[in-house]
Amino acid sequence: MVLCRQKDKINAQIEAKSTMKGLILSGGTGSRLYPLTYTNAKQLIPVANKPILVRVIESIHDAGIDEIGIVIGVGARADMVRKEIGNGERWGIAITYITQDAPLGLAHAVKVSADFLGDDRFVMFLGDNVIEGGISTLITKFGKSDWNSQIVLTHIENPQQYGVAELGEDGSIRRLVEKPKNPPSDLALVGIYMFDHNILTAADSIVPSARGELEITDAIQWLVDNGYAVHPYVHHGWWIDTGRPNDMLNANDHVLEEIAYYVDGLVDADSNVDTRVRVEEGAEIINSVVRGPAIVGKNSRIVNSYIGPFTSIAHDVLIENSEIEHSVVLENSSIKDIEARIQDSLIGRNVCIHRSPVKPKALKLTLGDNSDLGIL
Ligand code: G1P
Repeated sequence: MVLCRQKDKINAQIEAKSTMKGLILSGGTGSRLYPLTYTNAKQLIPVANKPILVRVIESIHDAGIDEIGIVIGVGARADMVRKEIGNGERWGIAITYITQDAPLGLAHAVKVSADFLGDDRFVMFLGDNVIEGGISTLITKFGKSDWNSQIVLTHIENPQQYGVAELGEDGSIRRLVEKPKNPPSDLALVGIYMFDHNILTAADSIVPSARGELEITDAIQWLVDNGYAVHPYVHHGWWIDTGRPNDMLNANDHVLEEIAYYVDGLVDADSNVDTRVRVEEGAEIINSVVRGPAIVGKNSRIVNSYIGPFTSIAHDVLIENSEIEHSVVLENSSIKDIEARIQDSLIGRNVCIHRSPVKPKALKLTLGDNSDLGIL
């Protein structure tokens, strides 16, 4: 299996080398992830301590593509993406930023990228999607084919929230429909698409949907209607569109099972750390229990505490005299002397959770707009 994957990856790199580009969509306000996304782009929120956008870039790069366009909006979140990701030098790739002034749809994002794309074939990847197994196999299939497009589908429980495909008996696409009230199937369009230049003509030929957006689903339907070859690939692993806090935790669960585990930091003799745990450089585990899969980031300190399975602790975090599991804690936060176990939680940057010695004995909260606090 591993050998096959490596062979696929090498083939993909050969196929894609000079011919394909990558286009990552990284705009949007991420409103369903407020308050975290008031101060951060949702694509920069880490899963197993690595921003989702970085995961997307790396999986496109692994597939042999070294020219990537990133579509961003305007304002602080867009600036953060530029600052965090840079020009691609660290991966040995070239990154071009393309501004989409308003969130007018995925097909609109393709239109504003026309200069960058030229006549090249490309893979378009939504910057908040996480998928099992990377995309090298898909790139290889598309690279070897004469298809005009390849779309990725997966069986899903709530197809109403996505683009949905209806396939014919021979497995070809009969029809695609965006967020249908009565879905014709349970096959959702995953946020990964492969196109040749004909998608630009398609994007120019459609009109905005009821939500006022140029839908990529409609543009692909235009390709189908006009006799272009669109190949549906059904993905059977996991796939997560990280729109809401629960999706983030879910993506974190899956990715934590795939990372490399090692201990580069310090674990003292009174601690018990499972084999499926990564303790990064400079981290310290003192008199604590860490159950995997879990990750403790650089220079974080876990003191007299319990870190349960499926927990990601970012860098420079302090957890002291507390218990936490199935959660994500971002950098520079601290949790001290909390009796109740923290669970299923998404905790932002520079957050401080502690016991207050000052009477009266009461909950004293400073929460940002749209915070969500569950108290027993
Ligand atoms: C978009 C597409 C939809 C697709 C989904 C995948 O939805 O329009 O067809 O299934 O991404 O994440 P949106 O995120 O714009 O609601």
